[in-house]
Amino acid sequence: MTVMPSPEAPILCVVGARPNYMKMAPIIRAFAAHEPPLAILLVHTGQHYDTAMNARLFADLDLPRPDVNLEVGSASHAVQTAEIMKRFEPVIDQHGARAVLVVGDVNSTLACALVAAKRDVPVIHVEAGLRSYDRRMPEEINRVLTDQLADILYTTERSAHANLEREGIASERIAFVGNVMIDSLLGNLPKAVAPEVLLREAGVDPARIAEGYGVVTLHRPSNVDDPERLVTIVGALAQVSRRLPLVFTLHPRTRNNLERFGLFELLDNPGFVILPPQGYLEMLGLMAGATMVLTDSGGIQEETTALGVPCLTIRENTERPITVEQGTNTLVGLDPQAIVATAESVLAGQGKRGRVPEYWDGKAAERIAAHLAGWLAERERPTLR
Ligand code: UD1
Repeated sequence: MTVMPSPEAPILCVVGARPNYMKMAPIIRAFAAHEPPLAILLVHTGQHYDTAMNARLFADLDLPRPDVNLEVGSASHAVQTAEIMKRFEPVIDQHGARAVLVVGDVNSTLACALVAAKRDVPVIHVEAGLRSYDRRMPEEINRVLTDQLADILYTTERSAHANLEREGIASERIAFVGNVMIDSLLGNLPKAVAPEVLLREAGVDPARIAEGYGVVTLHRPSNVDDPERLVTIVGALAQVSRRLPLVFTLHPRTRNNLERFGLFELLDNPGFVILPPQGYLEMLGLMAGATMVLTDSGGIQEETTALGVPCLTIRENTERPITVEQGTNTLVGLDPQAIVATAESVLAGQGKRGRVPEYWDGKAAERIAAHLAGWLAERERPTLR
């Protein structure tokens, strides 16, 4: 006999790495506001741990302190994933689990989904069905496998539904609810920190960005783990910076690699303003005021689309095609000439303006709470067997 997860047990909400926090914050709020409230237990795997990558974002997003921290830290993918699994399973034993809710596509997402599925606890995946069709990206593997394990799959754009159906996932398990990350963006935009304030606090003269600026974020292993690739990209950015100062918020992976490869002096360029990883409200302010954003992030492609700021994505593909089709995103690939030429066209006033996609309206988490409450109640309804 299968032991059904108890309706009294909490929904275990899992976060692990920076891009998870802005997705989880509105969900937790919507679960608390639901009538009756949906009880949760917030589990942090500890995949990210630095103050800049973690505690500061929790504060910015008004996230409650995690109830449980698995403190796994950094390691190879295999070790990190295995360690999260080992430490997450006893949390289910100790607290029970009505369901396990995971967001996004980081290692913590897959690890906890796999543990839950093996324990016959329903897996809820928020931001399901995105596909780059590039298995060299660790996140693509996490996405495909988490979606196979999930009982309910919440999608952010309509293309995700077709991707999931192609992989044999039944339509009844998929619900299009919109984008919880944009819930966070819309809710926090009024509190965003002005870029001038942030620069002054970092000891940088705000006059340097008075005539406009771009924002750069780079952290994807395919871009920053190979020294030649990194030199090429930074070279292209240096060219852009002759026309537009670039504020470069440096991810620890990128910083470590620049140091390891002896390339740190590449950043010693009057057109670059180098900053550490930023808080959520600082990053929002920076992006909202930018002439353009150059990035290899997944989430920033969506945030710039919601903000109407042109985004140049330094990748060959995107799992978020709606940002290109409807939003402000342009895939510039890795060719330095294409990066510089596209940046110049934005500077010439030809940047994409785009429009905000369907259901990116600040209410995605509410839709999830309503749908999930109904689904769980139906599942838990006593039946004659
Ligand atoms: C992870 C996610 C990626 C996400 C990114 C956002 C996976 C497979 N990747 O990549 O999808 O876009 O987070 O940041 O889950 N480090 C620190 N402090 C920290 C965390 C990491 O210094 O708090 C350093 C460590 O040297 C670590 C390296 O950054 O080895 C990479 O961290 P890791 O979590 O393995 O991957 P990310 O590149 O951050």
